[in-house]
Amino acid sequence: MMARVTVRLLLAKDSHTILSQAVRQMIPYAASHNALITSMPQVYAYSTQTRSLNNKAKESVNLGPHIQENLKKFREGSHENVSVPEELQHFRKSTEEGVKGNGPEEEKPPMGAVALPHPIWSEEELHSVHVTHRNPEGIVDKIAYMGVKFTRGCYDFVSGYSRGRQDEKMWVSRLCFLETVAGVPGMVAAMVRHLTSLRKMRRDHGWIHTLLEEAENERMHLMVMLQLKQPSLFFRLGVMVTQGVFVSGFSVAYMLSPRLCHRFVGYLEEEAVITYTKLLKEIDSGAMQHWNTLPGPDVAISYWKLRPGAAMKDVILAIRADEAHHRVVNHTLSSLKDDDYNPYKPGQ
Ligand SMILES: [Fe+2]
Ligand SMILES: [Fe+2]
Repeated sequence: MMARVTVRLLLAKDSHTILSQAVRQMIPYAASHNALITSMPQVYAYSTQTRSLNNKAKESVNLGPHIQENLKKFREGSHENVSVPEELQHFRKSTEEGVKGNGPEEEKPPMGAVALPHPIWSEEELHSVHVTHRNPEGIVDKIAYMGVKFTRGCYDFVSGYSRGRQDEKMWVSRLCFLETVAGVPGMVAAMVRHLTSLRKMRRDHGWIHTLLEEAENERMHLMVMLQLKQPSLFFRLGVMVTQGVFVSGFSVAYMLSPRLCHRFVGYLEEEAVITYTKLLKEIDSGAMQHWNTLPGPDVAISYWKLRPGAAMKDVILAIRADEAHHRVVNHTLSSLKDDDYNPYKPGQ
């Protein structure tokens, strides 16, 4: 029908008369309001071309008031304002109740419920973690190992750990601070590899996901330990300064030598396993025995899928198993070439 109308319009000498006839012809074919709206732009386009639109002819057409209003807006060039945004599906405002995370507290997902894949340890795996050490081979390994030993020695002295302090306050503060540092290498390494992939326009060989998983896992260790601590202003300042220095230094180091950095983290994780093993001994027969019965935080129980009513000792066993996993992952990545494929699949 439109083709027939168009031909008639193009051949017409008295175009404004033909336009009036064309609109009259279209009305019977417009089965609905929407069909007429759809055909209006073509009519208006033609009216602009002829530049001799006969207003009398247009107004004589028997159009409904809503359509006439739209036609008037088309003529005025304000047709973009015809639609009312709130009436369109994709502009509709969400209600408070309908948005997860913005509603009342009970509608928010619990912390750790939306997490990257990570290992869930069996009872056997939790109790089969041992302190291990990989002998440094070559200058890179020795630099990494000495760097970790020096850093640990300084922190042990400052925190009072090396002077025999073993109370709960020392343990919680120590673990909170260490986990704020432990979450940095995975994120920085993932970022550097991601940017290198973009910059050099080449594949990453599947390392990034493992590094991000490690970073989030360490951050979850921090979230768990923070259930037992309200950080002071002094503590926060210490974390801020340390993060600034460590992020800068580790970023440069990773750009220069990923192998050195993964070996450094591998040795750091060896120390983490030593620390958590020492804490477990304190829980078994030392100053921390109340953690055998102190209930573990809900976030820990949901994150590691621990049994209901699990105690802090179960939580520490899970964290230690994570650290032992980071230990082997980072020593493995350090021994690979930059373009070797990462052998760890998501969640492994
Ligand atoms: Fe950790
Ligand atoms: Fe770790």
